[in-house]
Amino acid sequence: MAQRRVLRTAIPGPRSLALAERRAAAVSAAVASTMPVYAARAGGGVVEDVDGNVLIDLGSGIAVTSVGSAAPRVVEAVRAQVEAFTHTCFMVTPYESYVAVAEELARLTPGDHAKRTALFTSGAEAVENAVKVARAATGRAAVVVVDHAYHGRTTLTMTMTAKVAPYKQGFGPFAPEVYRASASYPFRDGLTGEEALARTVATITTQVGAANVAAVVIEPIQGEGGFIVPAPGFLAGLARWCRDHGVLLVADEIQTGFARTGAMFACEHEGVVPDLVTMAKGIAGGLPLSAVTGRAELMDAVGPGGLGGTYGGNPLACAAALATLRTYEEDDLVGAARAIERLVLDRLRAAQAGDPRIGDVRGRGAMLAVELVDPTTGAPDAALTRAVAQAAHRAGVIVLTCGTDGNVLRLLPPLTIGPDLLAEGLDVVLDALAAQPG
Ligand SMILES: Cc1ncc(COP(=O)(O)O)c(C=O)c1O
Repeated sequence: MAQRRVLRTAIPGPRSLALAERRAAAVSAAVASTMPVYAARAGGGVVEDVDGNVLIDLGSGIAVTSVGSAAPRVVEAVRAQVEAFTHTCFMVTPYESYVAVAEELARLTPGDHAKRTALFTSGAEAVENAVKVARAATGRAAVVVVDHAYHGRTTLTMTMTAKVAPYKQGFGPFAPEVYRASASYPFRDGLTGEEALARTVATITTQVGAANVAAVVIEPIQGEGGFIVPAPGFLAGLARWCRDHGVLLVADEIQTGFARTGAMFACEHEGVVPDLVTMAKGIAGGLPLSAVTGRAELMDAVGPGGLGGTYGGNPLACAAALATLRTYEEDDLVGAARAIERLVLDRLRAAQAGDPRIGDVRGRGAMLAVELVDPTTGAPDAALTRAVAQAAHRAGVIVLTCGTDGNVLRLLPPLTIGPDLLAEGLDVVLDALAAQPG
């Protein structure tokens, strides 16, 4: 696909507007979309809509198409697989690609201990299963999660998710034995990693009791909660505390995994080796696949038949994953994420120097964000954030927001985006911010 922004109609154009009308009559209003346009094709760093507009993609379908949408190796692998067989169910007639994905994940995830893997379909399902493994392996029930966490939308994972609206509103009662502690949010709490850790540990100790805790589940860089990078030492200290108390550390790398942060996994930035890792999103180039990889003795503590699912590790998704994982390594997409970080952070920091509404610039690799605030009070400015995102959308750039307070613009470009296209997308976003009345 030609890699340039093209605006042929207003955004949304007439065909998208017609689809929006059909959608309103057929699709639940509870399912929301960021963009008002409907996709026709996508690849590299662009998405083409049904009106022929070509948009710069700074979202990757929420951190999924890191290798690009319809990436050539993925297309080829899926095409070959779909002609061979589409499904047998690994629990009925197993196949090699599932085993090969498990071997690759054992090699790629942090730590050189013996590992085992189970495959699932969605990120939430991976988190649910990590909790099942942790409980079965430790014989303990409590699960500790932190402020600003996002772990999914099923009953257990929405309970583990921090933000009420829209994820939990009206959906209770929630799952039992889930406890929340504070995390590390340097821009807001001003604490060092050590100070933040002391606060987190005090809450767990006094309100849950270390001996009752099966696992602490944490995103090494928090995603939906605001692209929050913990202060140095927080994560490593938490890992140490977990080890000392027989508590399993589950790293939810569903958004941060697979080269996204300039390392294969975000835990590597802190030298942390989790007991269990949950993965999804970037694992299979857009096909639905998720995984839990962990210490062999933990993963094998669950009785036979205790983990699984009809579609878990579907052969098309496994074929796509093997092609995707090869692409990360052969095309050095970890290096590409680091190059994106250099290009984008410099620009964002320069913008911050001239605009007091940019309260914070943060992130790693190609997972970068600006937090927008009221310059006089420092209060989160969700209205400004929304206005900037919508102006960028109208100008042909897909940009997402996040944050517990809805005041964070997040950048998640495909790692395959060209530097000129990325710079242009960034120009559009920063121009949209500059154009908003201060
Ligand atoms: C850190 C994290 N965990 C879990 C999930 C849930 O994944 P899924 O939407 O595939 O269920 C997400 C999705 O955004 C996520 O970012």
